[in-house]
Amino acid sequence: MPTSSRTPYVGGNWKMNTDRAGARELAAGVCEHLADVEGVEAAVFVPFPYLLTVREALDKAGKRVKLGAQDVSDRENGAYTGEVSAAMLLDSGVHAVLTGHSERRHVIGEDDALVAAKTRAALDAGLEVVVCVGETLEQREAGQTDAINARQARAALAELRADVLGRVTIAYEPVWAIGTGRTATPDDAQDAHAKLRALVGSMHGQAAAGAMRIIYGGSMKPSNAAELLAREDVDGGLIGEASLKAADFAAIVRAAAES
Ligand code: PGA
Repeated sequence: MPTSSRTPYVGGNWKMNTDRAGARELAAGVCEHLADVEGVEAAVFVPFPYLLTVREALDKAGKRVKLGAQDVSDRENGAYTGEVSAAMLLDSGVHAVLTGHSERRHVIGEDDALVAAKTRAALDAGLEVVVCVGETLEQREAGQTDAINARQARAALAELRADVLGRVTIAYEPVWAIGTGRTATPDDAQDAHAKLRALVGSMHGQAAAGAMRIIYGGSMKPSNAAELLAREDVDGGLIGEASLKAADFAAIVRAAAES
């Protein structure tokens, strides 16, 4: 693989897991395991209450693992109880956020318009964004995979200015593969990624499409990472369960660096 010059990107999505001590330990462990790894970007997407703790642990380890949050408000500031703004995240040392994760779309009920608004708010504030798209099992079985990916990606990326696109990564995460142990085949992932890249090209031009990282998520683990990452349009991974073990997450990051 890659014929491309895109730097691989691997994010660890911790979801609603860990506690403060565990978060600190996991972040330190990731840095330790990645001490000699180059040529890849790694990020950890941490629960809100532990952002500052993990910020400190990453700084202390001195390894450039990026700090990410799992959600962001679409509003700038004001009377929105419980929301966390992009500015607050930046102020807490956060580099990147997830938007459109399937658990937020399908469990919490976020729609395309809200995902797009959150994506814009984060980018406007200067954050990097990993925009997640992907079909449910029902949609896949109905032959709607490409249409769903295109609809979600189009909605999230439509109104973005050219100068922010370099801070956008797309994560293709088939919902049926998340946390289920079922992984898309490398062919399935490559096919979806190539179509998403073509869509970005039709919206924002070939240069932006060629530069944009499109990463895969859904039961990616050390045992299957290399074959997925070997595909031309698979530029990294978004890792849930396997990101909760420093050694497993680091093994995937290493596989990406070597891909
Ligand atoms: P998983 O989660 O690796 O546990 O399937 C991926 C994700 O939800 O980002």
